[in-house]
Amino acid sequence: MTILHLDSSITGENSVSRVLTKHIVEQLAENEVVHRDLVAAPLDHLTLGAFTDSSVLDEFLAADTVVIGAPMYNFTVPSQLKAWLDRILVAGRTFRYREDGSVEGLASGKRVIVALSRGGFYGEGSPAAGLEHLETYLRGVFGFIGITPEFVAADGIAVGPEVRERAVANALGEVERLAA
Ligand SMILES: Cc1cc2nc3c(=O)[nH]c(=O)nc-3n(C[C@H](O)[C@H](O)[C@H](O)COP(=O)(O)O)c2cc1C
Repeated sequence: MTILHLDSSITGENSVSRVLTKHIVEQLAENEVVHRDLVAAPLDHLTLGAFTDSSVLDEFLAADTVVIGAPMYNFTVPSQLKAWLDRILVAGRTFRYREDGSVEGLASGKRVIVALSRGGFYGEGSPAAGLEHLETYLRGVFGFIGITPEFVAADGIAVGPEVRERAVANALGEVERLAA
């Protein structure tokens, strides 16, 4: 079994999402782990030419489980993670259109676990709920290619040290339940 471990936080040692992805990967204790740090080794913005190199897509398709660190930057995914998503949403490889115009996801059978970290709160009914384009976007993107992702979230990270500590502890507890 192969795990693809992706990180996209720019905050290094201070990163919440990196703590969570590391813990998830440790809990899964699989044989082979491929770590792709999208900040240390960023992918270029997409160009048409990028489609001739399918190494990023092949790496995704070869993984049984994909663990993704997804901090919220300006209400959505970091552009580093968007550049990776741009490589894996490929017609004919991860999705296709049927004759009736509906979409068939071609990447099902993979487990995708996303560690979200957000500075504020975006739950249903909260004032900022309409600005939540991180979890909703990732759910949509993976759904499109046939995968229902699992989420672990640490919220309120920017509120203060106590809220941060509690959110991280709760999320780490969630990880253990998820791996059990
Ligand atoms: C460049 C930048 C943009 C951010 N934008 C948002 C935002 O739009 N909404 C939010 O709730 N928090 C925002 N935050 C706070 C982060 O989501 C929060 O600090 C989170 O913990 C980041 O993940 P990390 O700890 O793995 O880096 C932003 C942080 C940075 C550095």
